[in-house]
Amino acid sequence: MASGSKTKSVWFCTSCGNESPKWMGRCPACGEWNTMVEKTVETGVAKARGSAGSGAAASVRPVALSEIASASEARISLNNAEVDRILGGGIVPGSLVLIGGEPGIGKSTLSLQIPLHCPALKTLYVTGEESVRQVKMRADRLGGDPSGCTIFSQTDIESVLEEAGRLQPDLMIVDSVQTMFTHSAESTPGSVSQIKEVAATLLRFAKESGIAVILIGHITKDGYIAGPKILEHIVDVVLQFEGENRGSYRLLRSIKNRFGSTSELAVFEMTGTGLREVSNPSEMLIPMHGEGLSGTAVSAMLDGARSFLFEVQALVSSAVYGTAQRSATGFDVRRLNMLLAVLEKRAGFRLSAKDVFINMAGGLRVTDPACDLAVVVAVLSSNFDYTIPADVCFAGEIGLSGEIRPVAQTEKRISEAARLGFRQIYISAFSKNIPAGKAGIEIIKVGDVPALVKRLFQSAA
Ligand code: TYD
Ligand code: MG
Repeated sequence: MASGSKTKSVWFCTSCGNESPKWMGRCPACGEWNTMVEKTVETGVAKARGSAGSGAAASVRPVALSEIASASEARISLNNAEVDRILGGGIVPGSLVLIGGEPGIGKSTLSLQIPLHCPALKTLYVTGEESVRQVKMRADRLGGDPSGCTIFSQTDIESVLEEAGRLQPDLMIVDSVQTMFTHSAESTPGSVSQIKEVAATLLRFAKESGIAVILIGHITKDGYIAGPKILEHIVDVVLQFEGENRGSYRLLRSIKNRFGSTSELAVFEMTGTGLREVSNPSEMLIPMHGEGLSGTAVSAMLDGARSFLFEVQALVSSAVYGTAQRSATGFDVRRLNMLLAVLEKRAGFRLSAKDVFINMAGGLRVTDPACDLAVVVAVLSSNFDYTIPADVCFAGEIGLSGEIRPVAQTEKRISEAARLGFRQIYISAFSKNIPAGKAGIEIIKVGDVPALVKRLFQSAA
């Protein structure tokens, strides 16, 4: 803490936060014994807290950069390896983290799981959506140790902050921003001005108190992001939950992080007792269905700093109606149409009279262009009813003239494929600096779609 000339000693109750100019054995406010601790504060700044917040209260005034203790880098582990990793090594005290996602995806489950798995962390869980009994039922289902967690069912943000000030938790969770309201904005809860004001209030609170705050925000299915989008500028970290509601995999992606790298990805599986961390996503995204299924191809894809493999599934059948249908789950349908047009024009396949459906395993939403190659292979595999061996995978982007183009971090993808026991990987012939052979995996370089077909579907075409 910056030790300026104008400081004084005050005593704080660690139980309720009550301030007193002298030591007392029993806190007059909450009646607890032996809870008063001495704290040196700069005069006029009375909000310093116990341990984690050192320096935070002082930061409301201009401070010489050299005087700021670098303790602000301290992070609190949430005892969840995947969440800690995408936060950049734990949550930063005094930061505001937004978790966004569609209703039912698992935001409340994840945020309640955190305190249950960190009993040493004093947590205040504020719910504006559920009653305390509903939260209790969920907590029972999730298991863990509830001893560090206090539940508060409240939608008035001023009351929430008052309670948090009294309780002085290490972590506060607010579920959700849409249900909270503040008296300082006129409109109804959930409106844009309310959402902004609530978030700004929470940010101020987090910075001044040094308490880490996790804020939950709903995002609607059709991509219309009411709220969380405007919040992105306000908060320090944005984590987004994704995944098909029907499937059991959930992806948590960091979109913004003032304290770490973005485009990190964590994978979870929703089970009967909450979200399970999936440390090796590849194994879950490649369904093990023995041999002999056509229409599937494995892609070596990259998301954030991670490489993992997953299965692309395709079904090609004769169009029942006049116009052929094209449908894609987890993949851009315009991109699919482009790939089909390339197949038609550059490789002479008549796919225009066929229905084409594709699906990304595990409810994954894929934007990595390197998946083009696996999509094309899966479509051709279904079209020819020709099975691709299960230990072959693909990484390449396809251009409009049918050329197969190199993709970012090809080596990383090759290493991951080799690590998972794949025998062959197809990449672009134009990839540079790729070693001829990697231990245990054969690298096959192809230049364009016709060359790919010749190599892979020789016997079928
Ligand atoms: P929830 O966390 O309530 O979603 P959100 O807060 O994002 O709206 O998740 C609800 C879904 O998760 C619901 O369909 C039930 C399911 N679920 C499980 O499968 N297992 C569990 O242990 C829990 C608590 C929920
Ligand atoms: Mg919820």
